[in-house]
Amino acid sequence: MKIGVFDSGIGGLTVVKSMLEHSLFEEIIYFGDTARVPYGVKDKNTITRYAIEAVEFFKNFEIDLIVVACNTVSAYALDEMRESSACPVIGVVEAGVLATANALKNKDSNILILGTKATINSKAYENALKTRGYKNLEAKATGLFVPIVEEEIYCGKVLDATLEHYFKEVQKPDAIILGCTHFPLISEPIKNYFSKKILIIHSGDAIVEYLENEFEFTHKYDKPTLKFFASENPDALKAVAAKWLSL
Ligand code: DGL
Repeated sequence: MKIGVFDSGIGGLTVVKSMLEHSLFEEIIYFGDTARVPYGVKDKNTITRYAIEAVEFFKNFEIDLIVVACNTVSAYALDEMRESSACPVIGVVEAGVLATANALKNKDSNILILGTKATINSKAYENALKTRGYKNLEAKATGLFVPIVEEEIYCGKVLDATLEHYFKEVQKPDAIILGCTHFPLISEPIKNYFSKKILIIHSGDAIVEYLENEFEFTHKYDKPTLKFFASENPDALKAVAAKWLSL
């Protein structure tokens, strides 16, 4: 299988990392819209327009599947992307909800959903989890984590102050959904702020679980071909990819 992975910027590389750990694909073509990141502060019309442009970009390649490695786009524009794409399009929100339901059998569990302002405003996670019977949900927009990760700040005073700013009045949850693909880079500090025992739902691992359930993978590709594209400064994206993915 040859797939396209789309994110607003570099965050979707955390999804590629999970995919590489499972050797699922022969070729992965990554597109980050680095010229227009962040999407999480934009409205549905803009997010949808950009997402359809990403579908057009992937038409330059013969891919079998598009994985939307951006929660914001998955929350707002998946249907529109599917309408304009010849291949299937899957998103991280649906996968994250399924991973949560598989891992958390107690419907009374307290679940904290983190994401960009747009993702949280969409209520995509909340509505899907409510439909599955979960009722103790707290959703929090934590958009400052996006530039913090883009700046590669993974510890220290700035991050600690931001954690305190967002979480000081939040009850300790049983599970946290990292509803933004930038957040796995700071999952340890987020987890440690509350306690180490919290279940963390990670978009990358969730999509791998989803893909393995939906498709039959007969081969393992230990050395897939990776191609990275960005709407601005592709060399910077490639440098981050080399570092995060240990290429
Ligand atoms: N990676 C995006 C997400 O998963 C967030 C970054 C942005 O705001 O564009 O929602």
